[in-house]
Amino acid sequence: MDFQTITEIDVKSKTILLRVDLNVPRQNNTVTDTTRIERLLPTITYLREQGAKILILSHFGRPDGEQNPEMSLAFLTPILEKCWGCSVKFSPECIGETAQGIASSAKAGDIVLLENLRFHKGERDNDPDFAKSLAALGDIYVNDAFSASHRAHASTTGITEHLPSAAGLLMKEELSTLSKALDAPETPVLAVAGGSKISTKLDILKNLSKKVDYLVLGGGMANTFLYAQGISMGRSLCEKDMADTARDIMYTAARVGCEIILPKDVVTVSELKENAAHEIVDINNIANDHMAIDIGPKSIAYISEKIKDSKTVVWNGPMGVFEIKPFDNGTNEIAKIVAAQTRDGNCVSIAGGGDTIAALENAGAAADFSYISTAGGAFLEWLEGKKLPGIAALIK
Ligand code: 3PG
Repeated sequence: MDFQTITEIDVKSKTILLRVDLNVPRQNNTVTDTTRIERLLPTITYLREQGAKILILSHFGRPDGEQNPEMSLAFLTPILEKCWGCSVKFSPECIGETAQGIASSAKAGDIVLLENLRFHKGERDNDPDFAKSLAALGDIYVNDAFSASHRAHASTTGITEHLPSAAGLLMKEELSTLSKALDAPETPVLAVAGGSKISTKLDILKNLSKKVDYLVLGGGMANTFLYAQGISMGRSLCEKDMADTARDIMYTAARVGCEIILPKDVVTVSELKENAAHEIVDINNIANDHMAIDIGPKSIAYISEKIKDSKTVVWNGPMGVFEIKPFDNGTNEIAKIVAAQTRDGNCVSIAGGGDTIAALENAGAAADFSYISTAGGAFLEWLEGKKLPGIAALIK
């Protein structure tokens, strides 16, 4: 690695500003997947053993510079305490006198969770004054938020101008494991990309198609590609204004020999709810008043064959509306095949992203994957070969 990690610098009795990613999935104030919190434990334990004081920096959601109580990090305090097995204090401000007061009264081994960084516009704008105010709270900056390192924000880049900086143990683990598996992957490589919108993943899909042999698309993203091929999608989630872009991606993929795999059949409903009446139809037979919400058996069979043919599988995003049963079937079946292939030593499988982890857990397949990254967008950008600003900032 080109950067220092916390075990290579002197953190004894220092005040550490630890950037983590607590942007965890939440339903009614319960965290539905605590992976991002649990995976921070080695860093937390090491720093506490060294008698450091730990000030936790994180964002939650996208409050756009507004103090939005709905997106306060306060609800996480007891959950962090449970996952890390120690007490965690909360500061209702992440900069200024209040934060300074709480930070100064912290003792060796104490942990203070600072309020959502994105309550300040300066975070997203990478404002130098905001970065300076954050830096004023501690002695050393540590980035353990691989999943937020594709953002050039004050807490991921600007702050490194003001403090000695290092990577945490999760950052180190993510980068070394991903590099080992994917820098020179065994081919054929199959990528699964799902989720609702292509507009957020356009560059990624285009670049990915140049790097993989098969690109399996599912969810709303696949609908847009099918629509771009002239297929009538009824009331399915579909970004019609992205049709030209989808065609461009298909053209690029064909040119470089990447097979884009779209659903051949889909599960459709007229109303989206648990156990809704549904039909399985060929892709050309979607009724005008129905919507596609999962892939059908022909698609599952075809994708399964391609997975069996692949030596490396990377996965981001579900195949359908996996949160609503039984429309998790397509995602579950594909996940189980990847898990079985991995178990049998036939492929290396890497998955990333909050939704993806939840979908693989739901399928009972997560434990069999070779590696699960805590990152979603950052994982895909890393896969594309992009330099992530938060990592670049650690290399001085
Ligand atoms: C994530 O959940 O992928 C990261 O926390 C980044 O969140 P963002 O897309 O809101 O920057």
